[in-house]
Amino acid sequence: MRRVPSAVLSRLQSQAQVAFYDGPFPATAADLGTRLAGKAGLICLLTDAITADVLAAAPELRIVANIAVGYNNVDVAAAKARGIVVTNTPDVLTDAVAEFTWGLILACARRIAEGDRLVRRGDWKGWALDFMLGMELKGKQLGVIGRGRIGRAVAARAPAFGMRAVFADRGPAPSGTGGSGGPSLPFDELLVTSDVISIHAPGTPETTHLIGRRELARMKRSAFLINTGRGSIVDEEALAWALKEHLIAGAALDVYEREPAIVPALLDMENVVLAPHLGSATRETRTAMADLAVSNVLAVLAGDPPLTPV
Ligand code: DGY
Repeated sequence: MRRVPSAVLSRLQSQAQVAFYDGPFPATAADLGTRLAGKAGLICLLTDAITADVLAAAPELRIVANIAVGYNNVDVAAAKARGIVVTNTPDVLTDAVAEFTWGLILACARRIAEGDRLVRRGDWKGWALDFMLGMELKGKQLGVIGRGRIGRAVAARAPAFGMRAVFADRGPAPSGTGGSGGPSLPFDELLVTSDVISIHAPGTPETTHLIGRRELARMKRSAFLINTGRGSIVDEEALAWALKEHLIAGAALDVYEREPAIVPALLDMENVVLAPHLGSATRETRTAMADLAVSNVLAVLAGDPPLTPV
Protein backbone atom coordinates (compact mmCIF):
# COMPACT_ATOMS: atom_id res chain seq x y z
CA MET A 1 0.00 0.00 0.00
CA ARG A 2 1.87 3.10 -1.31
CA ARG A 3 5.42 3.28 -2.62
CA VAL A 4 8.31 2.75 -0.23
CA PRO A 5 11.60 4.72 -0.55
CA SER A 6 13.50 3.73 -3.72
CA ALA A 7 16.51 2.16 -1.94
CA VAL A 8 14.15 -0.08 0.00
CA LEU A 9 12.01 -0.75 -3.03
CA SER A 10 14.88 -2.09 -5.12
CA ARG A 11 15.76 -4.57 -2.36
CA LEU A 12 12.17 -5.76 -2.31
CA GLN A 13 11.89 -5.94 -6.10
CA SER A 14 15.12 -7.92 -6.37
CA GLN A 15 13.52 -10.74 -4.42
CA ALA A 16 9.78 -10.52 -4.95
CA GLN A 17 7.13 -9.51 -7.44
CA VAL A 18 5.65 -6.28 -6.17
CA ALA A 19 2.29 -4.63 -6.87
CA PHE A 20 1.46 -1.16 -5.55
CA TYR A 21 -1.60 0.72 -4.53
CA ASP A 22 -0.76 4.36 -5.13
CA GLY A 23 -4.08 6.15 -4.63
CA PRO A 24 -4.40 9.44 -2.77
CA PHE A 25 -6.61 7.95 -0.03
CA PRO A 26 -6.57 4.60 1.78
CA ALA A 27 -8.08 1.83 -0.34
CA THR A 28 -11.54 0.62 0.60
CA ALA A 29 -11.91 -2.77 2.24
CA ALA A 30 -13.38 -4.22 -0.94
CA ASP A 31 -10.52 -2.85 -3.05
CA LEU A 32 -7.96 -4.13 -0.55
CA GLY A 33 -9.52 -7.58 -0.64
CA THR A 34 -9.39 -7.66 -4.45
CA ARG A 35 -5.79 -6.48 -4.53
CA LEU A 36 -4.72 -9.05 -1.95
CA ALA A 37 -6.05 -12.03 -3.89
CA GLY A 38 -3.09 -14.25 -4.74
CA LYS A 39 -0.60 -12.17 -2.69
CA ALA A 40 1.66 -13.74 -0.05
CA GLY A 41 2.71 -10.56 1.72
CA LEU A 42 1.21 -7.17 2.48
CA ILE A 43 3.12 -4.02 3.43
CA CYS A 44 0.60 -1.54 4.77
CA LEU A 45 0.26 1.76 6.61
CA LEU A 46 -1.56 2.70 9.79
CA THR A 47 -4.28 4.24 7.62
CA ASP A 48 -5.15 0.84 6.12
CA ALA A 49 -7.81 -1.06 8.05
CA ILE A 50 -6.75 -4.70 7.87
CA THR A 51 -9.96 -6.23 9.14
CA ALA A 52 -11.05 -9.85 9.46
CA ASP A 53 -13.01 -9.45 6.21
CA VAL A 54 -9.96 -8.14 4.34
CA LEU A 55 -7.91 -11.06 5.63
CA ALA A 56 -10.65 -13.51 4.67
CA ALA A 57 -10.37 -12.28 1.08
CA ALA A 58 -6.65 -13.16 1.02
CA PRO A 59 -6.29 -16.91 1.62
CA GLU A 60 -2.68 -16.98 0.41
CA LEU A 61 -1.50 -14.14 2.64
CA ARG A 62 1.33 -15.11 5.01
CA ILE A 63 2.40 -11.76 6.45
CA VAL A 64 0.99 -8.32 7.17
CA ALA A 65 3.91 -5.93 7.68
CA ASN A 66 2.62 -2.67 9.14
CA ILE A 67 4.90 0.34 8.60
CA ALA A 68 4.25 1.67 12.12
CA VAL A 69 4.98 0.64 15.66
CA GLY A 70 1.27 0.87 16.47
CA TYR A 71 -0.91 -1.84 14.96
CA ASN A 72 -4.41 -0.92 16.06
CA ASN A 73 -5.36 -0.86 12.35
CA VAL A 74 -4.77 -4.62 12.07
CA ASP A 75 -7.09 -7.29 13.45
CA VAL A 76 -4.22 -9.26 14.97
CA ALA A 77 -6.48 -11.95 16.45
CA ALA A 78 -8.07 -12.60 13.05
CA ALA A 79 -4.62 -12.75 11.44
CA LYS A 80 -3.33 -15.18 14.06
CA ALA A 81 -6.39 -17.37 13.61
CA ARG A 82 -5.49 -17.62 9.92
CA GLY A 83 -1.81 -18.28 10.63
CA ILE A 84 -0.84 -14.88 9.19
CA VAL A 85 2.17 -13.20 10.80
CA VAL A 86 1.75 -9.53 11.77
CA THR A 87 4.82 -7.33 12.17
CA ASN A 88 5.36 -3.72 13.20
CA THR A 89 8.34 -1.35 13.21
CA PRO A 90 9.53 -0.84 16.80
CA ASP A 91 12.87 0.69 17.83
CA VAL A 92 13.73 2.38 14.52
CA LEU A 93 11.31 5.26 15.23
CA THR A 94 11.86 5.65 18.97
CA ASP A 95 14.28 8.59 18.79
CA ALA A 96 12.35 10.43 16.08
CA VAL A 97 9.12 10.28 18.09
CA ALA A 98 10.90 11.22 21.33
CA GLU A 99 12.51 14.25 19.65
CA PHE A 100 9.19 15.31 18.17
CA THR A 101 7.48 14.96 21.55
CA TRP A 102 9.97 17.38 23.07
CA GLY A 103 9.32 19.73 20.18
CA LEU A 104 5.63 19.68 21.11
CA ILE A 105 6.35 20.13 24.82
CA LEU A 106 8.44 23.21 24.06
CA ALA A 107 6.00 24.47 21.45
CA CYS A 108 3.09 24.59 23.88
CA ALA A 109 4.91 25.47 27.12
CA ARG A 110 6.71 28.35 25.37
CA ARG A 111 3.86 29.26 22.98
CA ILE A 112 6.03 28.90 19.87
CA ALA A 113 3.29 28.02 17.37
CA GLU A 114 0.98 30.66 18.86
CA GLY A 115 3.74 33.27 18.62
CA ASP A 116 4.47 32.30 15.02
CA ARG A 117 0.79 32.82 14.11
CA LEU A 118 0.77 36.18 15.87
CA VAL A 119 3.84 37.43 14.00
CA ARG A 120 2.46 36.27 10.64
CA ARG A 121 -0.84 38.08 11.35
CA GLY A 122 1.14 41.28 11.83
CA ASP A 123 -0.02 41.54 15.46
CA TRP A 124 3.43 41.84 17.07
CA LYS A 125 3.76 45.32 18.46
CA GLY A 126 7.21 44.82 20.03
CA TRP A 127 8.97 43.43 23.10
CA ALA A 128 7.25 43.78 26.46
CA LEU A 129 8.09 42.41 29.88
CA ASP A 130 4.85 40.49 30.30
CA PHE A 131 4.21 39.57 26.66
CA MET A 132 3.25 35.95 25.82
CA LEU A 133 4.70 34.42 28.95
CA GLY A 134 4.96 30.65 29.01
CA MET A 135 5.97 28.01 31.52
CA GLU A 136 9.62 27.24 32.23
CA LEU A 137 10.34 23.50 32.13
CA LYS A 138 13.23 23.50 34.58
CA GLY A 139 12.28 22.09 37.97
CA LYS A 140 8.95 20.75 36.72
CA GLN A 141 7.55 17.22 36.65
CA LEU A 142 6.98 15.31 33.41
CA GLY A 143 4.35 12.59 33.79
CA VAL A 144 4.75 9.85 31.20
CA ILE A 145 1.85 7.54 30.42
CA GLY A 146 3.29 4.41 28.83
CA ARG A 147 6.57 2.84 29.88
CA GLY A 148 7.41 1.37 26.48
CA ARG A 149 10.34 2.30 24.28
CA ILE A 150 9.09 5.74 23.30
CA GLY A 151 7.88 6.74 26.75
CA ARG A 152 11.26 5.77 28.15
CA ALA A 153 13.13 7.69 25.44
CA VAL A 154 11.06 10.81 26.16
CA ALA A 155 11.74 10.43 29.90
CA ALA A 156 15.46 9.94 29.26
CA ARG A 157 15.61 13.41 27.67
CA ALA A 158 13.89 15.11 30.62
CA PRO A 159 17.07 15.81 32.64
CA ALA A 160 18.41 17.86 29.72
CA PHE A 161 15.60 20.33 30.48
CA GLY A 162 15.94 20.02 34.26
CA MET A 163 12.68 18.06 34.47
CA ARG A 164 11.96 15.05 36.65
CA ALA A 165 10.20 12.26 34.76
CA VAL A 166 7.75 9.89 36.43
CA PHE A 167 5.74 7.11 34.86
CA ALA A 168 2.11 6.25 35.43
CA ASP A 169 1.89 3.08 37.43
CA ARG A 170 -0.29 1.07 35.07
CA GLY A 171 1.10 -2.44 35.18
CA PRO A 172 4.60 -3.78 34.59
CA ALA A 173 6.99 -2.47 31.94
CA PRO A 174 6.47 -4.20 28.58
CA SER A 175 9.02 -6.89 27.84
CA GLY A 176 12.03 -6.03 25.74
CA THR A 177 12.31 -2.47 26.99
CA GLY A 178 15.08 -3.15 29.52
CA GLY A 179 15.20 -1.41 32.93
CA SER A 180 12.32 0.48 34.44
CA GLY A 181 13.17 3.90 32.98
CA GLY A 182 12.40 5.80 36.18
CA PRO A 183 10.09 6.09 39.18
CA SER A 184 6.37 5.59 38.92
CA LEU A 185 3.34 7.13 40.60
CA PRO A 186 -0.24 5.89 40.85
CA PHE A 187 -2.11 7.15 37.78
CA ASP A 188 -4.25 9.68 39.69
CA GLU A 189 -1.26 11.03 41.59
CA LEU A 190 0.60 11.53 38.32
CA LEU A 191 -2.40 13.45 36.95
CA VAL A 192 -2.58 15.71 39.99
CA THR A 193 1.14 16.43 40.39
CA SER A 194 2.57 16.66 36.84
CA ASP A 195 3.27 19.90 34.98
CA VAL A 196 3.45 18.18 31.60
CA ILE A 197 1.75 14.86 30.84
CA SER A 198 2.89 12.99 27.75
CA ILE A 199 1.06 9.98 26.35
CA HIS A 200 2.99 7.05 24.88
CA ALA A 201 0.58 4.16 25.25
CA PRO A 202 -0.79 1.95 22.46
CA GLY A 203 -4.30 2.40 21.08
CA THR A 204 -6.21 -0.52 22.58
CA PRO A 205 -9.72 -0.99 24.00
CA GLU A 206 -8.18 -0.59 27.48
CA THR A 207 -6.61 2.80 26.69
CA THR A 208 -9.58 4.26 24.80
CA HIS A 209 -10.49 7.59 26.46
CA LEU A 210 -8.00 6.93 29.22
CA ILE A 211 -7.90 10.72 29.37
CA GLY A 212 -11.41 12.11 29.63
CA ARG A 213 -13.24 14.76 31.66
CA ARG A 214 -12.45 13.19 35.03
CA GLU A 215 -8.72 12.95 34.33
CA LEU A 216 -8.46 16.42 32.76
CA ALA A 217 -10.26 17.92 35.75
CA ARG A 218 -7.68 16.37 38.04
CA MET A 219 -4.72 17.93 36.22
CA LYS A 220 -3.11 21.17 37.39
CA ARG A 221 -4.62 24.27 35.81
CA SER A 222 -1.08 25.17 34.74
CA ALA A 223 -0.38 21.77 33.14
CA PHE A 224 0.02 20.76 29.50
CA LEU A 225 -1.16 17.53 27.86
CA ILE A 226 0.85 16.05 24.98
CA ASN A 227 -0.33 13.14 22.83
CA THR A 228 1.92 11.48 20.28
CA GLY A 229 0.55 7.99 21.04
CA ARG A 230 -2.87 7.29 19.57
CA GLY A 231 -5.82 9.62 19.18
CA SER A 232 -8.25 7.18 20.77
CA ILE A 233 -6.53 7.63 24.15
CA VAL A 234 -7.74 11.22 24.59
CA ASP A 235 -11.44 12.10 24.50
CA GLU A 236 -11.08 15.07 22.14
CA GLU A 237 -14.47 16.59 23.07
CA ALA A 238 -13.49 16.40 26.74
CA LEU A 239 -10.15 18.04 25.96
CA ALA A 240 -11.88 20.91 24.15
CA TRP A 241 -14.15 21.32 27.18
CA ALA A 242 -11.22 21.31 29.64
CA LEU A 243 -9.35 23.90 27.59
CA LYS A 244 -12.44 26.10 27.28
CA GLU A 245 -12.98 25.91 31.04
CA HIS A 246 -9.26 26.65 31.65
CA LEU A 247 -8.88 23.41 33.60
CA ILE A 248 -5.48 22.91 31.96
CA ALA A 249 -3.10 25.43 30.38
CA GLY A 250 -2.74 23.88 26.96
CA ALA A 251 -2.21 20.80 24.84
CA ALA A 252 -0.24 19.54 21.89
CA LEU A 253 -1.60 16.75 19.73
CA ASP A 254 -0.01 14.76 16.94
CA VAL A 255 -2.70 12.09 16.79
CA TYR A 256 -6.51 12.31 16.72
CA GLU A 257 -9.56 10.20 17.29
CA ARG A 258 -10.74 10.38 13.66
CA GLU A 259 -7.69 11.38 11.61
CA PRO A 260 -7.51 13.53 9.60
CA ALA A 261 -10.65 15.08 11.13
CA ILE A 262 -10.23 17.16 14.30
CA VAL A 263 -12.86 18.30 16.79
CA PRO A 264 -13.66 21.79 15.39
CA ALA A 265 -13.48 23.56 18.77
CA LEU A 266 -9.76 22.77 19.01
CA LEU A 267 -9.03 24.55 15.74
CA ASP A 268 -9.96 27.93 17.23
CA MET A 269 -7.89 27.60 20.38
CA GLU A 270 -4.55 29.39 20.59
CA ASN A 271 -3.23 27.22 23.43
CA VAL A 272 -3.35 24.00 21.40
CA VAL A 273 -0.59 22.88 19.06
CA LEU A 274 -1.99 20.64 16.33
CA ALA A 275 0.49 18.56 14.33
CA PRO A 276 -0.51 16.26 11.44
CA HIS A 277 0.74 12.89 12.80
CA LEU A 278 4.43 13.65 12.23
CA GLY A 279 6.04 11.87 15.19
CA SER A 280 8.16 9.48 13.14
CA ALA A 281 8.37 11.72 10.07
CA THR A 282 12.09 12.08 9.44
CA ARG A 283 13.72 10.87 6.23
CA GLU A 284 16.00 8.59 8.23
CA THR A 285 13.26 7.02 10.29
CA ARG A 286 10.64 6.56 7.58
CA THR A 287 13.27 4.84 5.42
CA ALA A 288 14.25 2.62 8.35
CA MET A 289 10.59 1.77 9.02
CA ALA A 290 9.99 0.78 5.39
CA ASP A 291 13.25 -1.16 5.37
CA LEU A 292 12.23 -3.12 8.46
CA ALA A 293 8.81 -3.91 6.95
CA VAL A 294 10.53 -5.20 3.80
CA SER A 295 12.94 -7.30 5.87
CA ASN A 296 10.01 -8.83 7.73
CA VAL A 297 8.23 -9.70 4.48
CA LEU A 298 11.32 -11.18 2.86
CA ALA A 299 12.08 -13.23 5.98
CA VAL A 300 8.60 -14.72 6.18
CA LEU A 301 8.41 -15.40 2.44
CA ALA A 302 11.76 -17.21 2.73
CA GLY A 303 10.38 -19.35 5.55
CA ASP A 304 12.40 -17.58 8.26
CA PRO A 305 11.02 -16.06 11.47
CA PRO A 306 9.98 -12.40 11.24
CA LEU A 307 12.31 -9.82 12.79
CA THR A 308 9.67 -7.87 14.69
CA PRO A 309 6.44 -9.84 15.14
CA VAL A 310 3.74 -8.16 17.23
C1 DGY B 1 3.43 4.59 14.59
O1 DGY B 1 4.45 4.09 14.13
O2 DGY B 1 2.59 3.92 15.16
C2 DGY B 1 3.26 6.06 14.44
O3 DGY B 1 2.01 6.50 14.78
C3 DGY B 1 3.64 6.54 13.06
O4 DGY B 1 4.99 6.42 12.96
